[in-house]
Amino acid sequence: MSETLILTRRWGTKDSATLASYKSAGGYGALEKGLALPPSAIVDEVKASNLRGRGGAGFATGLKWTFLPKDVRPRYLTVNADESEPGTFKDRYIIEHEPHMLIEGIALTCWANDIHTAYVYIRGEFARQARILEAALAEAYQAGILGPKVLGKDFALDIHVHRGAGAYICGEESALLESLEGKKGYPRLKPPFPAVVGLYGKPTIINNVETIANIPWIVEHGGAAFAALGVGKSGGTRLFCVSGHVNQPGVYEKPVHYNLKKLIMEDCGGIVGGRKVKAVIPGGSSSPVLTADEIDVSCEFDALKAAGTMAGSGGVIVMDDSTCMVRALSRISKFYAEESCGQCTPCREGTPWMEALVHKIEHGHGQPGDVDKLAQMANNIGGQTICALGDAAAMPVQSFVKKFRAEFERHITERRCPFGDHAWGKTQ
Ligand code: NAI
Ligand code: SF4
Repeated sequence: MSETLILTRRWGTKDSATLASYKSAGGYGALEKGLALPPSAIVDEVKASNLRGRGGAGFATGLKWTFLPKDVRPRYLTVNADESEPGTFKDRYIIEHEPHMLIEGIALTCWANDIHTAYVYIRGEFARQARILEAALAEAYQAGILGPKVLGKDFALDIHVHRGAGAYICGEESALLESLEGKKGYPRLKPPFPAVVGLYGKPTIINNVETIANIPWIVEHGGAAFAALGVGKSGGTRLFCVSGHVNQPGVYEKPVHYNLKKLIMEDCGGIVGGRKVKAVIPGGSSSPVLTADEIDVSCEFDALKAAGTMAGSGGVIVMDDSTCMVRALSRISKFYAEESCGQCTPCREGTPWMEALVHKIEHGHGQPGDVDKLAQMANNIGGQTICALGDAAAMPVQSFVKKFRAEFERHITERRCPFGDHAWGKTQ
């Protein structure tokens, strides 16, 4: 398999975030090349690249761009840097190590789509990354890369950084737009999709940081070269964030269809203390869990979908055989109950109910029938809500109960946690 590195090749290089360092490695060459091309040529390359959204949904990027209505102006680009999905920690490193790669990707995206104003909505807790990005933007303005004439061309572009205030829901694209407009971050009903009615009611492209950071490479090397790094309808490499019981957790850039088991057992050095894998969440906490028998699988979007889960945001959470799955689900359920925006009833009421019931079972107070009740609650939330947070809360519950039902039942019949106080998470 290809070892081509697109995003991480300069991570760890001294001063990689500076303009001088980026330019010395050929940075902004793709922008020069792109500005000499008609915008539609860039859209065509991105379509040919099979780049799919790296925020979680895996939607085809080039196709999304074509949804912008032809005759409505202004249009906006919003870069989603509100990275908050548990288990996901990649966008912050792109901004930290390669802010100019992101800026170049934004400039190319804006040129391709006739956009003159872009926003980077960055998670409030990323104060350091926001400072790094602001510094890079200042350098880019100073060098004439941004402003009234991008690289001297008759094309104006401004990029603004907007810091969020710590709400997970503001990473949902329509809640993000509401927040950017200065309102409470309540998700909007879709359709209309942001591409048609977005920021300030205008057509808006929303793409994840990693998605946009790939654009310069695609323009430089061509869409076909990017597509060739992947497989089928998924091109390129992607960043896998591996956490949990592995010897070497971290961010790994691998072809989009890399084997999950190989990533865990070889690249990440296997499981701590030589223990066995029990379960893996492959794409951030909302993706359905896989058992140890199911991890010999490609991480490509459609392959993981066929395996009953999601590639999601690339957040791979590994649990060894000492893990109490009820405890693990309890922590996940608490997160979603806390982060529900409260706008729609199944999510507002259902997520705390699920949390309370899992907590009850975990601590040995469950009753016969509670496991079915839990599954039923999750089924009543999934697909019934305004935004994907409802599904995100329901999917782990459904998959944990389905695949580790015996463990839930044991907590009830033994009236205690069979893993004892040393189970994973007890002291965290
Ligand atoms: P989605 O599948 O509804 O939409 C994907 C994208 O395609 C959106 O930008 C949407 O506007 C666009 N789109 C879809 N159909 C369209 C159409 N007919 N016309 C125009 N545009 C269209 O998924 P969503 O709700 O945006 O994202 C959910 C994903 O986000 C989950 O899979 C989850 O993994 C991920 N996620 C990531 C987080 C992170 O921190 N990176 C946090 C939470 C969730
Ligand atoms: Fe808010 Fe949850 Fe409804 Fe999404 S599903 S709009 S987070 S209450």
